[in-house]
Amino acid sequence: MTLDLAVLVSGSGTNLQAILDAIARGELDARVRLVISNVPGVKALSRAEAAGVPTLVVPHKQFPTRDAFDAHLVERVREAVGDRGVVVLAGFMRILTATFLDAFPRRVINIHPSLLPAFPGVDAQKQAVEKGVRITGCTVHLVDAGTDTGPILGQAAVPVLDDDDRDTLAARILVQEHRLLPGVLQWIAEGRLRFDDRGRPRFDGVVPVYWPA
Ligand code: GAR
Repeated sequence: MTLDLAVLVSGSGTNLQAILDAIARGELDARVRLVISNVPGVKALSRAEAAGVPTLVVPHKQFPTRDAFDAHLVERVREAVGDRGVVVLAGFMRILTATFLDAFPRRVINIHPSLLPAFPGVDAQKQAVEKGVRITGCTVHLVDAGTDTGPILGQAAVPVLDDDDRDTLAARILVQEHRLLPGVLQWIAEGRLRFDDRGRPRFDGVVPVYWPA
């Protein structure tokens, strides 16, 4: 079933681009119905415009509370994708409250640049370099009320090299993010996602893991 996506962004939008490119190549059965940024002027918005995707800027600072911001987002996302669409947080740097999450149960997906539950929160790549781990990666997960704590959908592993700094590591992780996120979305489009009796996500017929090449 073709997925209707609303993609929320705050920055450069390379993950959004990976989704758009996978759709254009016929590898992802989805339509991006709307891109919302909480930051004006970011590159993600021009990427969406170049692909003919409607965009909206909703600056969070214009709302008195997180709930008010989230309630506004719910309305805009519902207009674009209805109740059955999937919301993708692709470098969206705001914490969403229950006001938003309860409107789209099990339908809000985030990509995070670490192997969760390691290194949640901001600058996961820097955390990995400072900790000295030899392997890190990225995680696509369902969003719950915590910070990067929701049920894991898929992960990709990335080595940390001796002379890595935050930026070289981030670039290597991004390559895998751009495979993993469209990959997971395609498995959802194919109707493979189910939940076991403990509520854990499972994909029929695929192991949702990428290892370093
Ligand atoms: C990506 O590395 C993404 O995993 C990260 O921000 C970057 C956005 O890049 N997200 C988080 O850290 C969320 N906590 P992009 O705008 O080029 O897709």
